[in-house]
Amino acid sequence: MCGIVGYIGDEEATPVLINALKKLEYRGYDSAGIAVIGDGKLSVRKAKGAIKFLEQRIATEIIRGSVGIGHTRWATHGEPSDVNSHPHTDVAGKIAVVHNGIIENHAKLRAFLESHGVAFRSQTDTEVVAHLIDFHYNGDLLQAVLETLKRIEGSYALSVVCESSPDRIVAVRKDAPLVIGVGKGENLIASDVPPLLEYTRDVYYPNDLEVAVVYRDRVEFYDADGDPIEKTTTHVEWDISAAEKGGYEHFMLKEIHEQPKALADTLRARIKTYATKSINLEEIGFDASWAEANRVVITACGTAWHAGVVGKYAFERFARIPVDVDIASEYRYRNPIFDPKDIFIIISQSGETADTLAAMRMARSGGARIIAITNAVGSTLAREADLVMYTWAGPEIAVASTKAFTTQLMCVYLIALQFGALRGTISSEDLARHIDELEALPAQAEKILAEKETIQRFAARNFNKSKAFFMGRLFDYAISLESALKLKEISYTHSEAFAAGELKHGPIALVDETTLIVAICTQRELFDKMDSNIKEVKARGATVLVITYEGETHFDKTADEIFRIPAAPDALTPMLSVIPSQLYAYYCSVLRGLDPDKPRNLAKSVTVE
Ligand code: AGP
Ligand code: GLU
Repeated sequence: MCGIVGYIGDEEATPVLINALKKLEYRGYDSAGIAVIGDGKLSVRKAKGAIKFLEQRIATEIIRGSVGIGHTRWATHGEPSDVNSHPHTDVAGKIAVVHNGIIENHAKLRAFLESHGVAFRSQTDTEVVAHLIDFHYNGDLLQAVLETLKRIEGSYALSVVCESSPDRIVAVRKDAPLVIGVGKGENLIASDVPPLLEYTRDVYYPNDLEVAVVYRDRVEFYDADGDPIEKTTTHVEWDISAAEKGGYEHFMLKEIHEQPKALADTLRARIKTYATKSINLEEIGFDASWAEANRVVITACGTAWHAGVVGKYAFERFARIPVDVDIASEYRYRNPIFDPKDIFIIISQSGETADTLAAMRMARSGGARIIAITNAVGSTLAREADLVMYTWAGPEIAVASTKAFTTQLMCVYLIALQFGALRGTISSEDLARHIDELEALPAQAEKILAEKETIQRFAARNFNKSKAFFMGRLFDYAISLESALKLKEISYTHSEAFAAGELKHGPIALVDETTLIVAICTQRELFDKMDSNIKEVKARGATVLVITYEGETHFDKTADEIFRIPAAPDALTPMLSVIPSQLYAYYCSVLRGLDPDKPRNLAKSVTVE
């Protein structure tokens, strides 16, 4: 999910690759490595941690040659370590591969290769690719890669070099970024434009499964059947800073737009599609014993806690099991009551939040079992939990969490549905239907993003409002909490969230003509109740934006404005209904002249109390 680079030309490849990897550092990574072919020999150097550790290794273990590939890794399978760093090679060390993404059927492929005598060195999903290419290699690297592509499932950008074909690099992508820069007597490969700009502004953007064979003086493209295809280059006008953000003005906007892919990645590998669709959590060690719990306790901080609040509703709905959801900093000090039959779900993007870790350790020492949901492989949370479910969102650079949140929700839903299936509270038919509904979400999220200008215009009219309150019921209350946090974090607007039914128990005293109310209305059974709440705040002069479904006319008379999201089942809507709020917060921040990526006083990872 991080960076790949490649170089073929007349220069020494090592400094070019290192320089190129540094230009991808902004994407976040946990380790780095390169493979270079010189004097007919392939050499690999790699190291956990910052690129400087790789440089230190290369300084004493010099490698020469003018063909090479490089990688910055954001671990998804196997903790960050020297051996898990890329490149990975076949057994003989003649073929080297760098990979961004996830090979979803890696376990099956590993078993297949092991049955053919392959001894694996790493815990990564990627290593199967190196061995598969070797398995299919008969002197033609392109052919071996094409055969390999037929067997791997998942998302990938791959670059491959082979000692016996030192005049080429083979590269291909599927659902992961890859760009090829065309220089003079040299060509480069990268996951993104910034590393290329020093060498060229003419680039190829391969489509999914178009395989590039990159030589010094030309680039050839082939389709998945090996038939040649013609492609034209694009001239890049971006400056480095725009290029780093993939053409978006800020990382936050880029990450908001990455949600459809992040949701699809987080879901896809966990679904069994043969016969009736079902959820596959066996790979993470989730078996029927987990669902025998008496109670589920969810603890987390900030946005991750909001994912837990959604989780409470989801678990109760699908698995009919009691759920406590608690802020980790409260939980750790309140002498809570729990027993070893409780299951804890600890949610943390970074896996390093001090309060969250403290709550987890407390549960552990009391004998409870822990499921971690985190975005950081090898993090303290991942290491200490009994079972880990990763949100495959890729690195989140902006301080305000967006894609980590929606993928946390996806994980929470998968666990809640699997609990329900194991406890018999949902039938296998209902489960299959819910899986279909989850699978529809990425495309629905895409539709919301296509309407972002509507939110931008709404923000342009309201960003100066001094108060913004979000209200909703059930799942919409949980999303109101997250929406208000997003807005306060990056636009410094005073924003709060209320369960809509609580309005008349206090908050309505604050409402006047300076107030913006965002009413999230996706819980169909409670539309009338929400309509009454909207009338109450309208009568006090507030401006009201309603977020509801396409084709829904319920609020046409009461709302000042309506933003419509695709119609989805009430219980699964949170992964969609939060997106307009993320966009609203983003645009308000920009309109207020702030930097949404680096809000004042906040840190990405809160490792102290
Ligand atoms: C989210 O936008 C925040 N920056 C913050 O609330 C964050 O969610 C919280 O600090 C928890 O972080 P974690 O997920 O890394 O544990
Ligand atoms: N899934 C691979 C791994 O964990 C690649 C991760 C990446 O994209 O950096 O090694």
